[in-house]
Amino acid sequence: MRRKLSRLTTLNRDNAPHLFDCFLNLVRETIHSCAARALAHWWRVEIGSNSRFFGLPIFRRLPGSSIRIGDNCEFRSGEWSNLVGINRPCMISTLTRSASIVIGNDCGFSATVLGAATSITLGRRVMCGANVTITDTDWHAIDWRDRLAGKPGETAPVVIDDDVWLGMNAIVLKGVKIGRGTVVGAGSIVSRSLPEGVIAAGQPAVVIRKLAPAEAREAVLQGMAQ
Ligand SMILES: CC(C)(COP(=O)(O)OP(=O)(O)OC[C@H]1O[C@@H](n2cnc3c(N)ncnc32)[C@H](O)[C@@H]1OP(=O)(O)O)[C@@H](O)C(=O)NCCC(=O)NCCS
Repeated sequence: MRRKLSRLTTLNRDNAPHLFDCFLNLVRETIHSCAARALAHWWRVEIGSNSRFFGLPIFRRLPGSSIRIGDNCEFRSGEWSNLVGINRPCMISTLTRSASIVIGNDCGFSATVLGAATSITLGRRVMCGANVTITDTDWHAIDWRDRLAGKPGETAPVVIDDDVWLGMNAIVLKGVKIGRGTVVGAGSIVSRSLPEGVIAAGQPAVVIRKLAPAEAREAVLQGMAQ
């Protein structure tokens, strides 16, 4: 045991790059978490306690709209902050004065875009893999005449329940509801709602198999809390 511990703590040529990287990330996290909180304060984005930022996110909140982030969330925006490959910072924006974004506790985001014209609601422990996009609007009207006239695109609320995991590069489109515990495969496009407790993948995403039932997950969570 002691030998194992000393192998971990003694600085040598093998572990030096890793330990230095851990130290650097700790420094970055501390600085970026302070700066991100200041940014959130400036944009009047509400953030609960203990959220951590690795790289600076982009917040844009239109006056009148609301962005609320729960406790213990994690935002990875620097390209160094997730080795699965991040190609942009986290961007959280409301596009109309009546829009709302609500993020539950313990969620994780890597280079995730959340853009709301109506509402985007995320439950607890939602994991968004690298470069995931979630939007409740088409951003532009389908008819070119409407685009010329400056009319907005179609919008419909998005709801993502507790314990959903969105694989890297997934895109969630307007009007979608994703049920508890569902996993969405990498690169999928979710254009229609998905039930709870399944794995779904593809373009458009379809259910490929069922996962363990929700009651089992609840029991595990209760056991972990004790
Ligand atoms: C969702 C995922 C975890 C499912 O893994 P799995 O249960 O082992 O699934 P399988 O590999 O057995 O695939 C089952 C079927 O779904 C298909 N499939 C799996 N993932 C897919 C995807 N992302 N897009 C399209 N089809 C997919 C497979 O081709 C296979 O089809 P088949 O039965 O016709 O051969 C995995 O596919 C995935 O996306 N992993 C990446 C997660 C990720 O993004 N991690 C990093 C960031 S957090």
